[in-house]
Amino acid sequence: MRMYDLITKKKHGEVLTDEEIQFMIDGYVKGEIPDYQMSSMLMAIWFNGMTDHEITQLTMVMAKSGDMIDLSAIEGRKVDKHSTGGVGDKTTLIVGPIVAACGGKVAKMSGRGLGHTGGTVDKLESIPGYKTALDRKEFFDTVNKCGISLIGQSGNLAPADKKLYALRDVTATVDCIPLIASSIMSKKLAAGSDCILLDVKTGSGAFMKTLDDSIKLAQTMVAIGEGAGRRTVALITDMDTPLGLGIGNSLEVIESMDVLKGHGPADLTEVSLQLAANMLYLVGKGDPDECRKLAEKSIEDGSAFETFCTMVKEQGGDDSVLRDYSKFAQAPFKAEIKAEEDGFITKMNAEAIGEMSVILGAGRETKESDIDFSAGLMLHKKYGDAVKKGDVLVTLYTSKEAALKGAEDLYRKSVVIGADAPEKKPLVYARVE
Ligand code: URA
Repeated sequence: MRMYDLITKKKHGEVLTDEEIQFMIDGYVKGEIPDYQMSSMLMAIWFNGMTDHEITQLTMVMAKSGDMIDLSAIEGRKVDKHSTGGVGDKTTLIVGPIVAACGGKVAKMSGRGLGHTGGTVDKLESIPGYKTALDRKEFFDTVNKCGISLIGQSGNLAPADKKLYALRDVTATVDCIPLIASSIMSKKLAAGSDCILLDVKTGSGAFMKTLDDSIKLAQTMVAIGEGAGRRTVALITDMDTPLGLGIGNSLEVIESMDVLKGHGPADLTEVSLQLAANMLYLVGKGDPDECRKLAEKSIEDGSAFETFCTMVKEQGGDDSVLRDYSKFAQAPFKAEIKAEEDGFITKMNAEAIGEMSVILGAGRETKESDIDFSAGLMLHKKYGDAVKKGDVLVTLYTSKEAALKGAEDLYRKSVVIGADAPEKKPLVYARVE
């Protein structure tokens, strides 16, 4: 078999066989197929797509390119969650403890921030002492004891995806449904949970900018998960506007704790409850309505918040910061951006708001950059809100005073105040099962 012939086939829109896909991925992981040939194949896939069968085969081969984690040492049904990435998306910190408090098992490996989107591991590391690297036994023991453990990706999980993702990033081939679906699902299948809830984001802050593409991506991933014997559901949720009000690592932990204590922002609370209800449905806790009530009760009775605190302590973290937020590291510089006119916020580009948080130090400019856990921003007005001249629209937090100006300039460019109230947008657009 020759990679040259496989590229030619895909260039003409033909279907690759299972053996050809296996040959291509094995050869690429071993370094026998060079980046330039794989780049050409990725671009051919970008233009000509793949059949459902090809996507499933590609996903399975990528999943099996490294460790397939066996979670059988954890009792009960394990449910994983994946978000396709967003701005202010801190839902894992909320839904994980809700599901665990209601009897589901959450053994979750999360990622770091990528570009303008935040990552759960960076947020967790803003809690003093919290260890995001546990060995397998500690990970399993924590889930058995607390119902949940949130850690960083460890071991050799889907190395084919690691190599392919880095190549896609520099060859303009990230935005391709077969490649995104196989990338995400290979990691989810390798991570070993029985059920998977996918949160597919749609809008200006998401990889998928249109609802049609988001639904297509969700359907593709659900079919892969179910085909591999894992119960899988997807929700399509809004990422045209950031989720919640806080963007930045410790700011997002604080806001998540507010939701768990019953007084978080309404949009974040609603999306989190819908995600948690679907995770509980997947592990067999009842129909979606019953599961929603269970999730709400775990907030009302404090059990979800206590579950999160117990996990934090178990993983070496100082849970007192979750009760007294002044114990988090504080940003030395703070600035407010005020409205220059009356009106309504008619546009708020989520991607630009994410970029502002990176400028302030909450994300990485380069792979080597350190994160400033206290940096970020707190929105006081969001899409659709009425504003009066002089109202504080957003507060910026940073350790780099010089970053304040760049962040304000970007805000002024990406947020529009208009005369009329804009149309309301749904928080959850669709559910795919
Ligand atoms: N997240 C992933 O893990 N892979 C993609 O291709 C896109 C988003």
